[in-house]
Amino acid sequence: MGVIISVVNNKGGVGKTIVTCNLADALGRKGKRVLVVDMDSQCNSTSLLIPKGTIRNSIYELLDPDEAEEPLSNYIYPTQYGNVSCIPNVPETASLEPKLILKAPDSFLHLRKRIREYTEQRYDFTIIDNPPNMGTFVICSMYASDFVIVPIKAGSAFSVEGLLKAVQVINDIRNGGNPDLKFLRLLINHIDKRTIISRTIVDQIWTAFRDNQIFKTTIPVNTAFERAESDSQTIFQYEPTSTGARAFRDLAKELIDIFANLQNNRSTSRRRNNEEKAKYAS
Ligand SMILES: Nc1ncnc2c1ncn2[C@@H]1O[C@H](COP(=O)(O)OP(=O)(O)OP(=O)(O)O)[C@@H](O)[C@H]1O
Ligand SMILES: [Mg+2]
Repeated sequence: MGVIISVVNNKGGVGKTIVTCNLADALGRKGKRVLVVDMDSQCNSTSLLIPKGTIRNSIYELLDPDEAEEPLSNYIYPTQYGNVSCIPNVPETASLEPKLILKAPDSFLHLRKRIREYTEQRYDFTIIDNPPNMGTFVICSMYASDFVIVPIKAGSAFSVEGLLKAVQVINDIRNGGNPDLKFLRLLINHIDKRTIISRTIVDQIWTAFRDNQIFKTTIPVNTAFERAESDSQTIFQYEPTSTGARAFRDLAKELIDIFANLQNNRSTSRRRNNEEKAKYAS
């Protein structure tokens, strides 16, 4: 059954969009079915994944309480990458926020109600790209999600603050109606292994967080990301041999392994529970 992952950091420019799109493509290339949901009205993920698309139904229509509901498939578009589909965004979505606030808390749960059942059955991974704040749209995303990934930019103290804030909001959402939401891992982006400062930062982060709170894979500084983005391409299409592409291949493998282990642990504990029950019943 598929999982829904939000990519969150209230600090701008830390790599939420490059992580969303490149991880989606990397997973797609490993045979996983992936849906990207663009919850950011800057529409950066949308432009990268469906640059020439004509968009009829977007996140705007999906979230607007005054729009007639259509089947979810009417909001999902194919992308130029095999196995990756996208629910796109449009800039007008920003103007929807006051309406959503007035209709809270129902409006906060609307994305959850609309996407969960459908995506769990059809996609291995649904990845939600988020705007750089902790506002209404991020709250909607977190209510809809199972897990949160927080990218941080090495060298930016603010992006680490964004991590602490995300953990706080995860706890609030957990207490407020989505008890299953979990912090998955933080992801260190923008690493330059040649510099002492980068190495010091990584050491500090590894000291401050537990092993199972950080992706072992880090994303290097690589100018190919920017060039790929301005060409509306993922790193795999633009420069598949780059260090950035290699990192996202490793990240996709690490993510798949994490979920395989979670699945195994769940099956083992279910089996143990059943054995315990059988023991008491006999
Ligand atoms: N590892 C990297 N190496 C080089 N450039 C990078 C790297 N990560 C991100 N960038 C560049 O930094 C800029 C910001 O990245 P991105 O758009 O993914 O951040 P974001 O967190 O989504 O920003 P926003 O909060 O505004 O949505 C982009 O131009 C991207 O190409
Ligand atoms: Mg972005």
